[in-house]
Amino acid sequence: MPTPVPSCTRLVGRLSVFVETGHFRCLHCPGSLRRWRSATSNQLAGGHAKLQSWRHENGFSLQTYLPLDSRPPGIHKARITSNTLYMHSTSHIQVTSNPVQNRPPVQPLVPPTITMEPIVHTVFESQTSTWQYIVADPSTKTAVIIDPVLDFDPARNAISTKSADALLALAKEEGYIVDYLLETHAHADHLTAAKYLQSRLSKEGKKPDIGIGKRIAGVQERFAKRYGIAREEYEGAFDKLLEDDEIFHVGELEAKAVHLPGHTPDHMGYLIGKNIFCGDSIFNSDVGSARCDFPGGDANDLYQTATKLFTLPPAFKIYTGHDYPPKTPRTAPQASSTVAEQMTQNKHLKSGTSEADFVSWRTERDAGLAEPRLMHQALQVNIRAGKLPGDGLLHVPVKVEGW
Ligand SMILES: [Fe+2]
Repeated sequence: MPTPVPSCTRLVGRLSVFVETGHFRCLHCPGSLRRWRSATSNQLAGGHAKLQSWRHENGFSLQTYLPLDSRPPGIHKARITSNTLYMHSTSHIQVTSNPVQNRPPVQPLVPPTITMEPIVHTVFESQTSTWQYIVADPSTKTAVIIDPVLDFDPARNAISTKSADALLALAKEEGYIVDYLLETHAHADHLTAAKYLQSRLSKEGKKPDIGIGKRIAGVQERFAKRYGIAREEYEGAFDKLLEDDEIFHVGELEAKAVHLPGHTPDHMGYLIGKNIFCGDSIFNSDVGSARCDFPGGDANDLYQTATKLFTLPPAFKIYTGHDYPPKTPRTAPQASSTVAEQMTQNKHLKSGTSEADFVSWRTERDAGLAEPRLMHQALQVNIRAGKLPGDGLLHVPVKVEGW
């Protein structure tokens, strides 16, 4: 972790920015900020951005994100978080509010009524290091499948269903009736098998609904525009758009959908019994946290999400969307850990970590990460809930080097 960076509460109001000369002057402060680090980052699926770190002679520092496709110079609105300012202009910025200062306090997560614990099957897909889950009500054998993977070989541009078929076989062996296929978010690193599973299960008797958080609509619009996908290809692709804190049933079990933004804006978690299936909202303690640089991602939001998760009782289990076990001390992927373990051991987010520290570290780390291997293929299929393009074609941007 970097050394703690004090946040500047004065950076609200009009700022003058002189990026070309390496000066950044806050009209509330007499001194100027000097640029001390600069890097081009991959602002995923939205073009590149320049990440710069600035240090004020009075002690505080901040980071700026300047999209390279920025609007022309002039006065623009920008938003400032604890120490990250997202810039939209190379000349002047009008900062109208500080969302971190004005943000309401985190509301504790309230689990639904717990009458019984579900049976949880954890199935790891090693090509994309994804955890898939089948969660079932033991009394009625009703089940949900969370974040199923559709296999994709980028070398051959070939889709296959080995992983999804293994989930089907497991559900069949256990005699489950699958009511829902749930996505925690629009994944950028693997393709979802939701549509394939829906079609297979429909043929076997019962069509499950594909569910996701209601904010998927914004994500669909954004990426449909980016990849040139016609509205009819993705509109209505999901059967159930879950509201924040919506209660739904898995047989006789009550389940609750909770909004966990940060990694992506649409991200949801599913509380069932004493378990939360939280996708990429937090990783196991020795892995830490997921990137926040997808469009609409936000490190401050992710910090708030972790704070929210830590309001659950200490013995509740947090099931992650991926695991990337470090070489030591463990080598096998692990599906879950308790809230207490995460609070005391998470390497990025354990209790006591300041929001400014986390945001500063996460932003800098994300700026150096490469884009996920299957990002373009995954996003185009996942905003269609796993349906393949009508014309069988996926768009992949070309990188031009030395033209
Ligand atoms: Fe993800």
